[in-house]
Amino acid sequence: MTPRLVLGIETSCDDTAVALVRDGRDTVASVTAAQAVHREFGGVVPELASRAHLDLLGPTLDRALAEARVRLEEVDALAVTRGPGLLGSLVVGVAYAKALALAAGKPLVGVNHIEAHLWAPVLDGVEPPLPFVGAALSGGHTEFVHVAGFGDYTLAGATRDDAAGEAYDKVAKLLGLGFPGGPVIDGLAARGDPRAFDLPRAMADSGDYDVSFSGLKTAVRRIVGERTPAFDEAWLADLCASFQAAVVETLCGKILRLAADAGARAVVVGGGVACNRGLRAALGAGCERLGIPAVFPAARWCTDNAAMIALVGAWRLARGAADGADLEPVASLEETGFAAARG
Ligand code: KG4
Ligand code: ZN
Repeated sequence: MTPRLVLGIETSCDDTAVALVRDGRDTVASVTAAQAVHREFGGVVPELASRAHLDLLGPTLDRALAEARVRLEEVDALAVTRGPGLLGSLVVGVAYAKALALAAGKPLVGVNHIEAHLWAPVLDGVEPPLPFVGAALSGGHTEFVHVAGFGDYTLAGATRDDAAGEAYDKVAKLLGLGFPGGPVIDGLAARGDPRAFDLPRAMADSGDYDVSFSGLKTAVRRIVGERTPAFDEAWLADLCASFQAAVVETLCGKILRLAADAGARAVVVGGGVACNRGLRAALGAGCERLGIPAVFPAARWCTDNAAMIALVGAWRLARGAADGADLEPVASLEETGFAAARG
């Protein structure tokens, strides 16, 4: 039976999040404290993230319980992100969850962060038809997964180097646009010409479902280095539009081919990059040609949140999972056992 009220905890990267989900479906509270400390460095500093999680977890838990108007004793079970992610950040979240579960005498399960992104549409009341292709696209991840059912995943492709969001953040840093770079570049791209610069679409014909973004980043660095005098607004918009077109085309090419090859009945996109307007438009059009829906969760469920962790935790608990004190955080997707089926 699905536990009625599950408290989820997420600390895999730079967001400290706590949420409460009822009946494995309905969010009663979801609080995310984005860590401001990383902005001045133009990227997430792992050591600072761990420390900030330690400071923020208590107040974030209090806020979530207050928002839900429940006491910890009323919670039926706890779920926490086990991996993948930054190890130091995961250690803080898992240790906190273990202590909380022990003190409150509640069961605890670990949740795979990538799996949670794939099921986030359920938080909007949308259960994608099976099988579907899930794409987890964030600052730390670019993975394409064939989902045959809950717990039945095949990793079909991934980035060979930078994650899609990481490419956005690095290019934004090159252009002095601040962190995180995705939303700023997305906004500027809407005003520029996507054909202004000829940028590479790496691995388009590689015959597999992998992608690569490091060459694209290098190409942008070269263009920026050759630019004199300093860039004006129109030039910047054109470069952002051209960069975004290259990322979107690269992602859509592989995702749509995988969806067609796998006979997928939907494409689900999660992670911060799923907020990208160019990606939403292009993938929406591509899926329409395939006659299947492109499912994008609401923005607050695309970025890291604890509701998706509580949701998958509730489903795992309903299937008899219980990790309790044995739970150990793991940094890589491979260690979560998720990637084992990759052929
Ligand atoms: O899922 P998320 O909140 O955190 C993790 O990285 O785990 O994703 C954040 C990433 C950042 O790299 C950010 O630049 C990117 O998502 N992002 C976007 C957009 N909004 C956020 N990338 C492209 N377009 C956007 N609109
Ligand atoms: Zn994430």
